[in-house]
Amino acid sequence: MSFVRLGNPRHHRRSLGSTNDLARQLAAAGAPQGTVVTAAEQVAGRGRQGRSWTAPAGKALLYSAIVRPLEQRHLVLPLAAPLAVAEAAEEVADVSCAIKWPNDVWIEGRKCAGVLIEVRPQDGWAVIGVGVNVSIEPDEFPEELRETATSLDADATVDGALEALNGSLTRWTQADPQEVLAAFRGRDALRGRQIAWDGGNGTAEGIDERGNLLVATGSGELVRLGAGEVHLRLD
Ligand code: BTN
Repeated sequence: MSFVRLGNPRHHRRSLGSTNDLARQLAAAGAPQGTVVTAAEQVAGRGRQGRSWTAPAGKALLYSAIVRPLEQRHLVLPLAAPLAVAEAAEEVADVSCAIKWPNDVWIEGRKCAGVLIEVRPQDGWAVIGVGVNVSIEPDEFPEELRETATSLDADATVDGALEALNGSLTRWTQADPQEVLAAFRGRDALRGRQIAWDGGNGTAEGIDERGNLLVATGSGELVRLGAGEVHLRLD
């Protein structure tokens, strides 16, 4: 088990394509556990499911951390990472965060942060990419996101968020999976809500031991949805 604190070494760029891309290159070249890449601005930031991720320069934490070697406990990384982000957000701003499965971080029903994890099991490493809207003003979000996106706080700083995330992500990436599952359940924003996906709809009933979303359908069936497979809609 490795207890190296994330954040050392740190590679910071004023502008780059994607912190995840640079972190993946560094990991492939042998960069150690704890390596973090940050940028003030990304010109090709990537989100989940092929989406792009944009943020005005200097107003978001754009962060990727290398975790290696991969261990059994890392099977719950997709749950551990948003927990760490939620905790870090609460440390630097007067906010209360929930998590929309699988790994969006919400403040009062609006997304303030997203997580993109890219894993190379055969090489034993993962890159945890995190984008946190720290001090983006409402009118700085693209029009289509204005109703659904939010930021931490006008007074919060990117450096403060970075420091808090290095600490919380170090803890949560080492945590026992049972502790991760319990903490995730305590922040689950979907539980009890009506949701729909391409294959059906139903009521979110929490997560199973592997982090799949459990959904009770109208016909009484309990369906398990894997994070990679579905585009969820909230009804
Ligand atoms: C999502 O919610 O779709 C995930 C967004 C992840 C964005 C972050 S920003 C830092 C890192 N580099 C990227 O290209 N993406 C992640």
